[in-house]
Amino acid sequence: MLEVKSLYVSYGGVQALTNVSVHVKKGEFVSLIGSNGAGKTTLLNSIMNIVSKQKGSALFDGKDVTKKTTSNIVADGMALVPEGRRVFANMSVHENLEMGGFKRPASEVKQKLAEVTEMFPVLGERASQMAGMLSGGEQQMLAIARALMTNPRILLMDEPSMGLAPLVIKEVYEKLKVLASTGLTILLVEQNASVALKYAQRGYVLENGRIIMQGKASELLGDNEVKRAYLGKEYKEKWER
Ligand SMILES: Nc1ncnc2c1ncn2[C@@H]1O[C@H](COP(=O)(O)OP(=O)(O)OP(=O)(O)O)[C@@H](O)[C@H]1O
Ligand SMILES: [Mg+2]
Repeated sequence: MLEVKSLYVSYGGVQALTNVSVHVKKGEFVSLIGSNGAGKTTLLNSIMNIVSKQKGSALFDGKDVTKKTTSNIVADGMALVPEGRRVFANMSVHENLEMGGFKRPASEVKQKLAEVTEMFPVLGERASQMAGMLSGGEQQMLAIARALMTNPRILLMDEPSMGLAPLVIKEVYEKLKVLASTGLTILLVEQNASVALKYAQRGYVLENGRIIMQGKASELLGDNEVKRAYLGKEYKEKWER
């Protein structure tokens, strides 16, 4: 469904991605893990063409989207839930959702609004509240729901666990699991390797802008090198209690 081939991205003199190839099949949940500054956000932003590519290509459903504009990529069925959620804090929850659907036909927006508020009841309950008043976890749910308003077939998720307590992280991932079970394809990037790999089928490890490992998520979770570099203390604290 999504195929990124030999991607190179640089910011001035900083080479952020080097020869990165990643693919996601229809219906898959794929997590890419990497530490601070590894290039995870750069990867998602360059797939969406928010950041421009130096070399390499991206195919979505066999169509070349390497040079398409971000809004055309979204129209094709790809949506990004950005790092730090980026909800419109001074707009209501309802308005945030409407912003997600603003390019879609009115009948579809209505239908989608009903779907996302069923999926995330809190967004229905808080519809008229300012988004900035929501908790971090609720804002993450809103950011996901806003992306869903564009009716995507693939969801790109940037660091959904950021700044959230373990229980809330679990809630967010459980929602992603439900979405995946409805057939939505997910490509997620995270520093929080343990949770990202726990929920995914397949994974990649990005280090200094290069893919250094890939495979089944369960195998990566069990890999000693991954454990040492990415799970360490955090793994013990969160999952071995
Ligand atoms: N706009 C920019 N201008 C210059 N350098 C940048 C810019 N954005 C990112 N970088 C650099 O590119 C590299 C990759 O950054 P990126 O944000 O993609 O990493 P990340 O894996 O998402 O990190 P984090 O886990 O902290 O979100 C880093 O060295 C970063 O400093
Ligand atoms: Mg990032």
